[in-house]
Amino acid sequence: MTEHTTLLRVHDLDVSYRRSGRRGGTVHAVRGVDLTVRRGETVGLVGESGSGKSSIGSAVLGLVPATGGSVEFDGADITRGSRAERRLLARRMQVVFQDPYGSMNPAHTVGDTLGEALRYNLGLPADEIRERVLRALDDVGLPPGAARRHPASFSGGQRQRIAIARALVMDPEFVVCDEAVSALDLSVQAQVLNLLARLKRTRGLSYLFISHDLAVVRHLSDTIVVLYAGRVVERGPAALVADRPSHPYTRALLAAAPVPDPVVQRRRQAERRRAAAAAPAVGRAGDGCAFAPRCPFAQDICWTARPALVDRDGVAVACHRSDETADHRA
Ligand SMILES: Nc1ncnc2c1ncn2[C@@H]1O[C@H](COP(=O)(O)OP(=O)(O)O)[C@@H](O)[C@H]1O
Ligand SMILES: [Mg+2]
Repeated sequence: MTEHTTLLRVHDLDVSYRRSGRRGGTVHAVRGVDLTVRRGETVGLVGESGSGKSSIGSAVLGLVPATGGSVEFDGADITRGSRAERRLLARRMQVVFQDPYGSMNPAHTVGDTLGEALRYNLGLPADEIRERVLRALDDVGLPPGAARRHPASFSGGQRQRIAIARALVMDPEFVVCDEAVSALDLSVQAQVLNLLARLKRTRGLSYLFISHDLAVVRHLSDTIVVLYAGRVVERGPAALVADRPSHPYTRALLAAAPVPDPVVQRRRQAERRRAAAAAPAVGRAGDGCAFAPRCPFAQDICWTARPALVDRDGVAVACHRSDETADHRA
């Protein structure tokens, strides 16, 4: 693909937070992350809780500052955009979070909630706002009457549709979905994923789709980026990354994907929690591979040298041992 199809380019992104309180110090949530989203493409960002996914999404949206690196949108550097620039960008770049209810005023009708940004950010006239709100509701499969109701009268899945409609009214090109289906039951999750896939086609949207669940990410993504302790450990076409993972961590994620048997599911979740508790959520600076303490293939070099992200048959992998361990790949 040619250069001009790139919509979002994140380059060498760092995000760190000052820890408040007596202990102080700095949390390096994201380090040296590169990722690109082309027009019409869905890039899935996957990793366990605390791996830095939301920090990347927030830096892209300008909700937290990038402490290093850059974010380019449609060729323009937006890393340190002003409030006014961000307001302009809000037309083109929207977000859907896990808990839309938290960001909806329960006293407002759905119609007011959806029309708010159109009124205040874009200053559109009332009849155009109404038209856009009804079109967005229709796009997400809700009846026009939904505009007169309050968020509390909808189910979780319907509220997530409302959140998607709220993003759509702005007519964006790019949407960040941060754990947008994670709180939903599996059957509702599938419906909302199908809706997002349909909107991608009909509205020509591009997504940065964030989830801790590899199976969910696989469902929607063209490209998958796997994050561990704030760094990219694997990145490539969804079919390769999700079905034939190269990095030992991606393979662990695949093994942790939801299975229909609730007993097996609970056991796997418990194993995952134990493994997560045993390892540092954020890697130490300067050391070897952050995954080494949990990796069944770790050797001396893994503890002393951080593996670079290198291309192996179209998939970028950061692992000293991937040659030896990826023998299952054709
Ligand atoms: N506002 C914040 N202040 C301090 N630390 C934060 C803040 N937000 C996130 N973190 C820390 O940054 C790391 C990455 O968090 P986050 O980006 O939310 O990961 P994820 O979305 O993958 O769960 C975690 O260690 C988290 O505790
Ligand atoms: Mg998160």
